[in-house]
Amino acid sequence: MTVISKVIELEDIQKVYRIGDSEFPVLKGIDLQIEEGEFIALMGPSGSGKSTLMNIVGCLDRPTSGSFLLLDQDISQTSDDELARIRRVELGFIFQTFNLIGRISVLKNVEVPMMLSGLPRENRKDRALKLLESVGIAHRINFSPQNISGGERQRVAIARALANDPKIIIADEPTGNLDLKNSDEVMKILTNLNREGRTIIMVTHNPEITENCSRVIRLRDGRILETAS
Ligand SMILES: Nc1ncnc2c1ncn2[C@@H]1O[C@H](COP(=O)(O)OP(=O)(O)OP(=O)(O)O)[C@@H](O)[C@H]1O
Ligand SMILES: [Mg+2]
Repeated sequence: MTVISKVIELEDIQKVYRIGDSEFPVLKGIDLQIEEGEFIALMGPSGSGKSTLMNIVGCLDRPTSGSFLLLDQDISQTSDDELARIRRVELGFIFQTFNLIGRISVLKNVEVPMMLSGLPRENRKDRALKLLESVGIAHRINFSPQNISGGERQRVAIARALANDPKIIIADEPTGNLDLKNSDEVMKILTNLNREGRTIIMVTHNPEITENCSRVIRLRDGRILETAS
């Protein structure tokens, strides 16, 4: 068995958006290594490229150039199908706007990623229930996400992110739409997930919630400014 310590290795990552004939360089040479079990806060002004970087790390988008190893796998050599599998199994996503499906119940929302990875129906329901219980939302399983509060939605989204037991959690401003109490709640859950050994990379604008992070990375105009522990 190989022991992986670096879960993410980025070398000279560039991202250029092209609109018509114009080119917009957004990431201008990102070098970054993240070890298993880290809890990273990614900070920086609006437009500095945080979400662009998270989308690359989360395999939702590919860099224009540079090398990206995820769990020792060279992503530039990986097919779109394999990338989809990695996204489903190794990564869990949490977004500022929750991104739940409104037409189906809270419980079903958490079951969807399990369905996509082929877990049998009986196991899906059990596992979804346990996850929803672990984030304190078991009393809302039959509700539509439209009929629960923002804080409750984000807890459902966390349960969904955990559906396939990912090693890495990617959270883009997970507390951006929450009040203080719900932010604290979500940060407590994320901190516990990190203590269980999951690697977390979280974008935030709020320095107050980074106290349990192991490292703060600052992005400015597409470059990493400094890292401090
Ligand atoms: N698909 C796209 N096509 C063209 N330009 C884009 C695209 N996505 C993002 N950009 C541009 O790239 C820059 C960085 O955007 P990004 O969303 O990564 O910033 P951010 O740091 O996450 O900002 P915020 O804190 O506001 O979320 C912005 O100038 C944005 O307009
Ligand atoms: Mg963003």
